[in-house]
Amino acid sequence: MASTNLKSRASGYNAEMDDAERASRDEIIALQSKRLAWSLAHAYDNVAHYRRAFDKVGVHPSDFKQLSDLAKFPFTVKTDLRDNYPFNMFAVPRENLVRIHASSGTTGKPIVVGYTKADIDVWSNVMARSIRAAGGRKGMIIHNAYGYGLFTGGLGVHYGAERLGCTVVPVSGGMTERQVQLINDFKPDIITVTPSYMLAILDEFKKQRLEPRKSSLKFGIFGAEPWTNAMRAEIEQAFDMDATDIYGLSEVMGPGVAQECMETKDGLHVWEDHFYPEVINPETGAVLPDGEKGELVFTSLTKEAFPVIRYRTRDLTRLLPGTARPGMRRMEKVTGRSDDMIILRGVNVFPTQIEEVLLATDWCGGHFVIELTREGRMDEMAVLAEARPESWDGSGLTPHAEKVSIFIKNTIGISARVKIVAPETLERSLGKARRVFDKRPKE
Ligand code: DLL
Repeated sequence: MASTNLKSRASGYNAEMDDAERASRDEIIALQSKRLAWSLAHAYDNVAHYRRAFDKVGVHPSDFKQLSDLAKFPFTVKTDLRDNYPFNMFAVPRENLVRIHASSGTTGKPIVVGYTKADIDVWSNVMARSIRAAGGRKGMIIHNAYGYGLFTGGLGVHYGAERLGCTVVPVSGGMTERQVQLINDFKPDIITVTPSYMLAILDEFKKQRLEPRKSSLKFGIFGAEPWTNAMRAEIEQAFDMDATDIYGLSEVMGPGVAQECMETKDGLHVWEDHFYPEVINPETGAVLPDGEKGELVFTSLTKEAFPVIRYRTRDLTRLLPGTARPGMRRMEKVTGRSDDMIILRGVNVFPTQIEEVLLATDWCGGHFVIELTREGRMDEMAVLAEARPESWDGSGLTPHAEKVSIFIKNTIGISARVKIVAPETLERSLGKARRVFDKRPKE
């Protein structure tokens, strides 16, 4: 998805790469083998959960001789972390932590993660590398609209931006009017925010009758939720900017585990010098060869406070060879989490598939939700899609809705009722968008 960006005039984008980014595949593999041996022993020696889990399947860190031996070690899942709430997964004394974050889980106890000073250092470095891969440079102003607080987005980006030598505006999420005012007045080069909230910022630009293409923004670093290439095109076109994808999760570190490179925009390079990715068959747990789609699993290679061994992310993707950074593999854009998959009368569908269909129309700018209900014994799916202000005539645009409904039936294979709603009807998220509202009675 090449974009013609008049503002960036990108050149010399490899000039400042660090050693790991320049390393060959063989060098990365050698580094990973050494670091994995350390990480497995560190987890086993210092975290009761890992010692129990390894002992239970009769495997010991000394059994690790080469990368393929990792498959002998047990997976870690979210409930393992939850069961050890709050501090029992830490591999260092609590006094050695300089920071704690926690996942925003809507139900039950959150997942608590911790960092030593050295962990924050690594995180700042991979985040700085990510911002640079996205086009950012020392001296640029970065408008950071990821939420600050227990969520890793705000502070994770913040420390990386400082490390790179940027001027950070720590605006956090919310107060959209002010976001636009600050963008106008401070003239940032970079914006970091969830793609769904970027759309809300776009709406606000229009509301204030400002021309987004004339804004100072040149680079957008979007993540924390699934988004499609269609959404990338929408945002790049609207702001005349380069938009890249950033991936991460609290359990593994936060943002900066993988980042798309601005010169190729072809999936996200996993920063494999610190995080070892595997893709597994979610049903059998078998490791899949590169190129095959499945559940992404991570093992941390250098983390001191909160090592994770074969952590099952539930995110679905596949691993591909490196391009802009040949030594490190890419992960394809995440289509969704296995938890977000809707199974409607036997057909699997992800909200990103609906996003793609809606953004292919000329009347929808990307705001939508999916509602699941039950009529009798039949599950029903409704897509509520917001019209662009310039397309809305108050009529409900029924012929357009019917067209999309038929298109969804033909391409995805499910029957969905599409209802077009007036601009600004759907609630805007300040961070991660909630796409699915399941109103079916609980079994
Ligand atoms: O969302 C960390 C982050 C902050 C990433 C800012 C990028 C930017 P959690 O709140 O723990 O951490 O949520 C992690 O969000 O397992 C994915 O399901 C989803 N996710 C994160 N980045 C992407 C992405 C942060 N680029 C969970 N594409 C992950 C798709 C993403 N899903």
